[in-house]
Amino acid sequence: MAIFTKSALFGFAVVFSVFTGAANAQLSPNFYSTSCPNLGTIVRSGMASAVQTEKRMGASILRLFFHDCFVNGCDGSILLDDTPTFTGEKNAGPNANSARGFEVIDAIKKQVEASCKATVSCADILALAARDGVSLLGGPTWSVPLGRKDSRTASQSAANANLPGPGSSLATLISMFGSKNLSPRDMTALSGAHTVGQARCTTFRSRIYTERNINGTFAALRQRTCPRTGGDSALAPFDVQTADGFDNAYYQNLVAQRGLLHSDQELFNGGSQDALVRQYSNSPVQFSADFVSAMLKMGGLLPSSGTPTEVRLKCSKAN
Ligand code: HEM
Repeated sequence: MAIFTKSALFGFAVVFSVFTGAANAQLSPNFYSTSCPNLGTIVRSGMASAVQTEKRMGASILRLFFHDCFVNGCDGSILLDDTPTFTGEKNAGPNANSARGFEVIDAIKKQVEASCKATVSCADILALAARDGVSLLGGPTWSVPLGRKDSRTASQSAANANLPGPGSSLATLISMFGSKNLSPRDMTALSGAHTVGQARCTTFRSRIYTERNINGTFAALRQRTCPRTGGDSALAPFDVQTADGFDNAYYQNLVAQRGLLHSDQELFNGGSQDALVRQYSNSPVQFSADFVSAMLKMGGLLPSSGTPTEVRLKCSKAN
């Protein structure tokens, strides 16, 4: 009888097929099957080598996708450099000195252009790369609806307004996700992305020094590398035990009051999401299913109709 490790079982347990919700009815997993049949292979191998070089990159690209989709829809806007005519999203508060992995997407785009000239949007490449990042770290995989277009502009102020901060309350999180038609359940499932990757001291300092709903040993551990003053950029993993493994440990941490950000622990602090957090902490399969369904919903957020779009030739620059 085959014996699987917990993480292997988790990764293979849930393999999803096409989802056609109303939000992404225009998108289809077969969008490029004739025009760019090797797209999936090119993106996957670009992500595989990036993750092999640095595991964290799977997490970083997943976050880029979230930060793209929450600002005027999934349109590759986060990938644009500032220009004389607009100040973009790369240097918005939640992204400056924080969002990373742009060079990985730019390099994959170059490879895609070499095979399929002026055909595949940067927004779609990012959607595929985020999915691959999750599965390469041992999480679920799913089929990604495609056919997004790239924006011609980006907005720093929209990024500042739409992306939740680490000090957010549960009510704020529910309302910010709700404004994107994502339910509290979607929000709680998507937050499970914090089972991988790292955060800077500046984002969790006040939690580890002032909050009471935190495990003492965990607070002391984090205080060792995140001093009261200075060291703003010192990094800590969200999940100590399996930092680079995409599993349901995030929820087990929350139940043990080992959430790293204030906003993380808000999901398990006597409020409406407690029962769901407990359920995910006990059921990797349930988490996996809900995470995939919420990723598909988030990936279906598109720019409002009438917004000028294109297929960019370089992800960092409008044509
Ligand atoms: C619920 C509201 C959320 C808040 C307040 C939040 C906030 C943050 C913050 C403050 C960091 C650390 C950034 C830094 O220090 O440089 C971070 C990292 C991260 N976030 Fe979130 N996030 C949220 C939801 C999400 C969602 C929905 C996803 C993806 C589906 C996501 C994926 C990630 C990942 C993977 C990292 C680690 C990135 C890396 O290591 O490069 N987050 N988040």
